[in-house]
Amino acid sequence: MATRRLLPILLLAAACTGTPDAPVASFTSEPFGSMPDGRTAQLFTLKNAAGAEMRVTDYGGIIVSLTMPDRTGTFADIVLGYDSLAQYQASSPYFGALIGRYGNRIGGAKFTLDGVEYPLTVNDGPNQLHGGLVGFDKVLWDAEPFADSLGAGLRLQYASPDGEEGYPGTLHVSVVYRLTDDHRVTIDYEAMTDKATVVNLTHHSYFNLAGPGHTILDHELWIDADSTTVVGAGLIPTGEIASVEGTPFDFRTPLPIGARIDDPDPVLQLGPGYDHNWVLNGGITPEPRTVARLSHPGSGRVMEIRTVEPGLQFYAGNFLDGTITGKGGIVYGRRTGLCLETQHFPDSPNHAHFPPTVLRPGETYRTRTEYVFKTDAAGA
Ligand code: GLA
Repeated sequence: MATRRLLPILLLAAACTGTPDAPVASFTSEPFGSMPDGRTAQLFTLKNAAGAEMRVTDYGGIIVSLTMPDRTGTFADIVLGYDSLAQYQASSPYFGALIGRYGNRIGGAKFTLDGVEYPLTVNDGPNQLHGGLVGFDKVLWDAEPFADSLGAGLRLQYASPDGEEGYPGTLHVSVVYRLTDDHRVTIDYEAMTDKATVVNLTHHSYFNLAGPGHTILDHELWIDADSTTVVGAGLIPTGEIASVEGTPFDFRTPLPIGARIDDPDPVLQLGPGYDHNWVLNGGITPEPRTVARLSHPGSGRVMEIRTVEPGLQFYAGNFLDGTITGKGGIVYGRRTGLCLETQHFPDSPNHAHFPPTVLRPGETYRTRTEYVFKTDAAGA
């Protein structure tokens, strides 16, 4: 194991000391397909100086693939997705996408702000999910790749028109993805509006640290949360915030995801299985802190999540049912990918005691999430 790990360490050391032949972060781009209006979507390949690669398209800001090493230094693609733009356009359960204007659900697809009721488009029973019929996951963003001393990145911008999917105000959104040389994927979100509105942006990669096609039930998860937002029908919060103590939602000690996922707990069964918002300890913080850790004992891959957000939706891929064939012809069966979506709580615009999601003219919405990849190899 020591010999196999030597090369990446030497290369990384060379990069740090500025040796002339040191690998450096880089980017390339190629056409990925066409939008219905004729515009071309691009596929950007970002590489860090330590051998990891992330492919991102400006369609939906989707992370199409992401490779990370296991404990022997072997890279594998650890996110679910498709090979072609046409497949994403035809139907996708938000694989790898940027989510907005409002990540997660808004009950009854409406909210009232400053005395005005705003009806939203409906796309999940009577509710709105992930920004509506054409959310930020389905639009073409302006994209600008870059590489610098931290790694490679992609700056994405989108101007969401006043009234889009029912939301007030023109919203100017900017998202910066980075793949850093120390194997972090960082996401910085910013937004400004010209009318009072609500915003809750997130990212929807389906991770599988074992590599494509495996179950996620053997992954171990730790979440730094003493409570969750209880949901009722349609996974809409009831407003109650309940302790995880003595329930299958208690991940304060790392446990395999499969250990309790089919527990008869009635709130868990609404998923069915994990598809809930954890109320992260510490609330909203000025700087990102580590809120969750996912590890796969078989490969040794570990992913830590750091964020400034107060909530985390853990979705265990319960709705994947083997009807989707993804990259490389791999069929995505039930629970073969999981999402950990940093966010404000679902349906906050309809719950005054949840942390507010209102953005007013003159304010800047800013949030940051980092996915930090490591291995459990000694010294890693
Ligand atoms: C989310 C939701 C899930 C499901 C997936 C997409 O994360 O919480 O209920 O809709 O997106 O299938």
